[in-house]
Amino acid sequence: MSKKPFYVTTPIYYVNGQPHLGSAYTTIACDVLARFMRMDGHDVRFLTGTDEHGQKVAKAAQDAGQDPKAYVDDLVKNFQALAKAMGTSNDDFIRTTEPRHIQAAQALWNELEKRGDIYLGSYAGWYAVRDEAFYTEDELRDGPGGRKIAPSGAECEWVEEPSYFFRLSAWQDRLLEHYQKHPDFIRPSFRRNEVISFVKSGLRDLSISRTTFTWGIPVPDQKSEGPRHIMYVWMDALTNYIAALGYPDTQAPLYRHFWPNALHVVGKDILRFHAVYWPAFLMAAGLELPNKGIFAHGWWTAEGEKMSKSLGNVIDPIELVRSYGLDPVRYFLMREVPFGQDGDFSKAALIHRINGNLANDLGNLAQRVLVQIQRNCDGVMPDPEELHTHDEALLGPAYGLLPAVRDAMDDLAFHKALDEIWHVVSLANRYLDQEAPWALRKTNITRMGTVLNTSAEALRILGILLIPFMPETMGRLLDQLGVPADARGFSHLDPAHTVPPGTRLPAPQGLFPRIEE
Ligand code: ME8
Ligand code: MG
Repeated sequence: MSKKPFYVTTPIYYVNGQPHLGSAYTTIACDVLARFMRMDGHDVRFLTGTDEHGQKVAKAAQDAGQDPKAYVDDLVKNFQALAKAMGTSNDDFIRTTEPRHIQAAQALWNELEKRGDIYLGSYAGWYAVRDEAFYTEDELRDGPGGRKIAPSGAECEWVEEPSYFFRLSAWQDRLLEHYQKHPDFIRPSFRRNEVISFVKSGLRDLSISRTTFTWGIPVPDQKSEGPRHIMYVWMDALTNYIAALGYPDTQAPLYRHFWPNALHVVGKDILRFHAVYWPAFLMAAGLELPNKGIFAHGWWTAEGEKMSKSLGNVIDPIELVRSYGLDPVRYFLMREVPFGQDGDFSKAALIHRINGNLANDLGNLAQRVLVQIQRNCDGVMPDPEELHTHDEALLGPAYGLLPAVRDAMDDLAFHKALDEIWHVVSLANRYLDQEAPWALRKTNITRMGTVLNTSAEALRILGILLIPFMPETMGRLLDQLGVPADARGFSHLDPAHTVPPGTRLPAPQGLFPRIEE
């Protein structure tokens, strides 16, 4: 059977400063999903990258006293380093200043123009540089000093300039029809409802070019006299998802294989661009819509406050990983908050998770089993002999985990997948306490072997299922359990692939150090 294609994307992050916890979060979630889908037999392509044009980046460059190109060439390194530091298994990294991207964005523009969906006019209205978004008067509230404030909290400025427009209004009904026909196109469902009511309230044509600054992709084939137009940064940026597959060559192997088998994972802040503008552009260009839809996750605050540079409470993910280790941070972010909900990051909560779930529940379980095999079985995997109902009451749920975990992952319910897995971690701890193999050493050495083998087998299953979340640490656990590197897939989650009795195991080493506060 040929593998099913699965294309997952993160937003491309603005290169206007240092990456922070928010960008790390989306990237890690996509990475966990990409790893899971690969292990589950899909042909995965995982894209991340950087959004380098627009007024926001141009301003940041100006503030830094640098030419924008030099500025982004320098800062992009931090975003590439972040992906690496988070253990990201991305197949590609796209920058919007690359020729392949510029070519794709211009080709999409030409296609929309050819089909009659672009016209020249002039824009007069509000713009928030921080959001790179246009707002209507009724969306705004009054701030101090007569300023206009967007729902996001961003300050708006009045803009009046010649502009090309995209006929977004013409696509309103077809968008609504698409949401209707594909109920999973926008997830979670409460976000879908928000988008539907926004679209139902009436779509205006979208300004898609700017003339008052120059840091962007030139609008192709400008015939008009007057100022030169550059593409609106969102029109430019959204194209990255197909540019990276070879668009405008729709016969390119990557494009043919992966489009439209795509899932776009984004934060709730940029759902409108992905669930309204992007599908409208695609429909207008006669291209297919991402058939795994758009998933919008929630927002992290830091110790109860909005993370912002001015408050100086921005959490540096690299610093976090340095202090607590990569896998514990990945675990925490995926476990603490249901994907889709907002959450608060606190050091106390992180330490609580590490010491509780990781050091105590899973780490101790592994340590107890492995140390006893080392001491009481000469470091050799004991024979399971005859299984009792108690043993089966642990192994049954362990072997049965994959379908439940897969269901949760289909919903991007990472916390639920981990809850399912931790249910078996708890069963295994209880089993070990009840069967007390340390006491059997003197009374029933055969039974001791069975209990330790059964516990090690449960750990093997847990270790394999947790690879997408904590690849490095689970690699070490499986090494210690004597599981060969080529026997760590989901096809090995059955009794037939158990570690053969008699296998010599290496000396155990702790998996998760406890954090002292
Ligand atoms: O919007 N909590 O880029 P961006 C959770 N370039 N996630 C957060 C977060 C937080 N506090 N802060 C940021 C852009 N994020 C555009 C995208 S896509 C074609 C163009 C994450 O650098 C979240 O995924 O502002 C959010 O959507 C993204 O970073 C915004 O990154
Ligand atoms: Mg942003």
